[in-house]
Amino acid sequence: MTEPYKLHDNLLLGVATAATQIEGGDNTNTNWYRFSQTKGNVKDGSSPLRCDDHYRLYKEDAELMKEMNIEIYRMGIEWGRIEPEENKFNDEVMNHYIDEIKLLKEKGIKVLLTLHHFSNPLWFEDKGGWLKKENINYFTSFVKYVVTKFKDLVDEYVKINEANIYAANCYLYGVWYPKHKKMKEAGKVMKHLCIAHILSYKIIKEINPNALVGFANHMAGFKPARNKFIDKKVAKFLDNAFNNSINRAMAYGTFSFPMGKSKKLKGNYVDFFGINYYTGNLVQGFKFFTKKDCPKNDLGWEINPVEFNEFIEKFHKEFNKPIYVTENGTADAKDAFRAKYIYDHLKVISDKEYVTRYYHWTLMDNWEWAEGEKAKFGLVEVNYETQERKIRKSGHFYSEIIKNKEINDEMIKEYL
Ligand code: BGC
Repeated sequence: MTEPYKLHDNLLLGVATAATQIEGGDNTNTNWYRFSQTKGNVKDGSSPLRCDDHYRLYKEDAELMKEMNIEIYRMGIEWGRIEPEENKFNDEVMNHYIDEIKLLKEKGIKVLLTLHHFSNPLWFEDKGGWLKKENINYFTSFVKYVVTKFKDLVDEYVKINEANIYAANCYLYGVWYPKHKKMKEAGKVMKHLCIAHILSYKIIKEINPNALVGFANHMAGFKPARNKFIDKKVAKFLDNAFNNSINRAMAYGTFSFPMGKSKKLKGNYVDFFGINYYTGNLVQGFKFFTKKDCPKNDLGWEINPVEFNEFIEKFHKEFNKPIYVTENGTADAKDAFRAKYIYDHLKVISDKEYVTRYYHWTLMDNWEWAEGEKAKFGLVEVNYETQERKIRKSGHFYSEIIKNKEINDEMIKEYL
């Protein structure tokens, strides 16, 4: 039975995007542009130069968000645009982002700013990127520059998006630039990103003591496939290595496998706990894979709101901080199950007062990294040829939820 339900009063609803995935334009100064130039790296051969042309169309997109009743917006900025060469900052680009954020504010949309979302300037990559500890300083200088500029405009930050996914995809599985496959390197990169988070936390607090600073880590489920010792043991190991270790390192500066130990940075570095949740895996022996018979999205990812609930309850218990759902969404080109997905996932947090934000991934179809333009996560459909935007039915559903702060019988009849 699909029952109506209400959302608690402290919950704000919005959308999340990432600069590289929507901006387009002529910015070739990213690891993603370089990656896309080698045939076979991006499934459909597309590059980040097209995307949603949002760098040019940001005013229209802000208006679209207003029309959709969006209350909060998690957005990113592009490091490679802002700092095209080492220590040379581009004021024109900064002014562009300042204009964009001012405009959103005028429309009553509150911004949570992501400072790093998988994208690096090429000069940084060419110095060894996140593999080299000494390169962390380049990022912290960038943070100092932008946070000083945004001081009076932005008071909520996520510094590093999904350090665990970035480290694993770039340095362990070798599916993203620079396509390395070394466990040791992945551990190192994850550690450097966590240190960057901690140092940036301190910098942001110095510049703007009232700012709220958190992280957005990708939480992937690992469940034993069978009631066997080995499956349980490996599932626990993966949960620790991928999920728990990064949260603890970022929140408290306590480092563990795969990052190696370090006592020097112990402290308290998180004001809110950001969770990006999409999917879970089954673990059998030393392998993990997607369950066979279960609801899945267009990319074959399991849809599992029960596991989403487990993560949220677990992190509330361990960290006791406000929780932001910094990303949650699904690839659904036909818009056949997105409304139900939203219904199920919002239900999980509907009465949890400690979950104060939900950012749906994502506003509009975007450039999905190595998947290219084919995976459709948008509440809004985008025709990349004409850049025409069209709110999907599930997008209208989401807008009504934001307006009513409930899902009532009429909405269930109309959308589910
Ligand atoms: C990333 C997004 C991405 C989404 C869907 C998340 O892991 O942060 O950038 O688009 O997954 O693939």
